[in-house]
Amino acid sequence: MGNLPKAVIFDLDGVITDTAEYHFFAWKQLAEELGVTIDRAFNERLKGVSRIESLNRILALNPEFKDMSEEEKSRLAAKKNEYYKGFIAHLTPKDVLPGVKQFIEELREKDLRLAIGSASKNAPEVLKRLELEQIFDYVVDAAKISKGKPDPETFTNAADYFGIPYEQCIGIEDSEAGIQAINAAGMFSVGIGQASDLAKANYLIKTTAELSYTAIIKCYNHRK
Ligand code: BG6
Ligand code: MG
Repeated sequence: MGNLPKAVIFDLDGVITDTAEYHFFAWKQLAEELGVTIDRAFNERLKGVSRIESLNRILALNPEFKDMSEEEKSRLAAKKNEYYKGFIAHLTPKDVLPGVKQFIEELREKDLRLAIGSASKNAPEVLKRLELEQIFDYVVDAAKISKGKPDPETFTNAADYFGIPYEQCIGIEDSEAGIQAINAAGMFSVGIGQASDLAKANYLIKTTAELSYTAIIKCYNHRK
């Protein structure tokens, strides 16, 4: 793999900022109201997944919800979103995760194109509160795509916008569904989290503080 990467596509929730925690708290609250308990291990299956699909996965925990109407599901999904919006209302630029800004500066110096690839309808609001709207060349949010992660569309949409071959793109994710999406796109995947959740990542680090262009590029150049 002689070619250097030309674009980096970042997931938002759990990569740029810790809003993955807020999604978890909001789902946990809604689930409790439904008499269902969800833990962090179960939450790994919700990360990166759309709002309605996340709700379906929670409802599947209790057979009593099997025949729930679409109307009732929409009401519950909207309720979860109200809880989530309550959390993100307090976001400030200080909530950008450690190492992220320095890493972005490193990438800018190398002249890479930068995008956000998020499944969230709240992505524009989160980026605004973090004051990061101007930093990215392009933002893929839930409104721009028809198939969510693990489908590769979130990532290929950004690469197509830039006109850059997929194999010259890097995707960064904290979710299993997201790593699957990056790999399915034929891009180089960087996972942030535990090996138990992100075993398929091409390059894995535990936290954003370890993000380094030099370290990633070494691994990128040695991939098959
Ligand atoms: C992803 C999160 O970024 O966005 C998921 O990882 C979330 O947990 C999904 O369900 C959809 O977000 P929203 O804000 O549109 O409900
Ligand atoms: Mg995420």
